[in-house]
Amino acid sequence: MHVAIHVAIAENGVIGRDGGLPWRLSTDLKRFKADTMGKPIIMGRKTYEGIGRPLPGRLNIVVTRDKAWRAEGVEVAHTLEAAIQLATVRGRRMTGVDEVCIIGGGEIYAQALPLAERLHVTHVLAAVDGDAHFPPIDPDAWQVVSSREIASGEKDSHATRYTVYERRREIV
Ligand SMILES: NC(=O)c1ccc[n+]([C@@H]2O[C@H](COP(=O)([O-])OP(=O)(O)OC[C@H]3O[C@@H](n4cnc5c(N)ncnc54)[C@H](OP(=O)(O)O)[C@@H]3O)[C@@H](O)[C@H]2O)c1
Repeated sequence: MHVAIHVAIAENGVIGRDGGLPWRLSTDLKRFKADTMGKPIIMGRKTYEGIGRPLPGRLNIVVTRDKAWRAEGVEVAHTLEAAIQLATVRGRRMTGVDEVCIIGGGEIYAQALPLAERLHVTHVLAAVDGDAHFPPIDPDAWQVVSSREIASGEKDSHATRYTVYERRREIV
């Protein structure tokens, strides 16, 4: 099982504002839904509360330090490592699943980046104001394996570039 990050990032590193997304990207949400469908998804408690419900058709795992926190339709983990472990064990039993998806937000991405092997990044082609960020993607550590430009559709606030990165293997 690979650990993969799925994220949309503005040119200035912003990923969120006031607990929500600072853009409307309907085309990208459809692509995100298709890419994550049937897989385990891991998110921070704040991202879960921003969405307000489990994402259908996926094993939802919420990470919180609050031992009393619960929500219907989601599994709870108290460390990121425990969430990845749970997702890996459960994912192995799901047919055709080879990826654990980390879906945010800023706190979780910062901790997951060193553990990830693949990044699915929607680059939002604008600088946007916000209060949650993604760390810089180091080109020495990550290579682009595919990239495509997506024009802004009727229900999209911005044009985007969808890029998949894989961690460079160390040459010894
Ligand atoms: N652009 C995108 O692709 C994207 C994707 C997802 C989210 N977002 C945005 O990101 C923002 C939310 O990000 P955020 O950084 O504020 O919050 P977050 O990462 O979603 O959640 C943070 C919470 O996760 C829990 N947590 C974090 N690390 C933990 C650990 N090691 N062990 C146990 N629990 C841990 C804590 O919950 P407790 O406080 O309950 O202990 C913490 O308060 C929102 O604006 C959202 O819309 C953007």
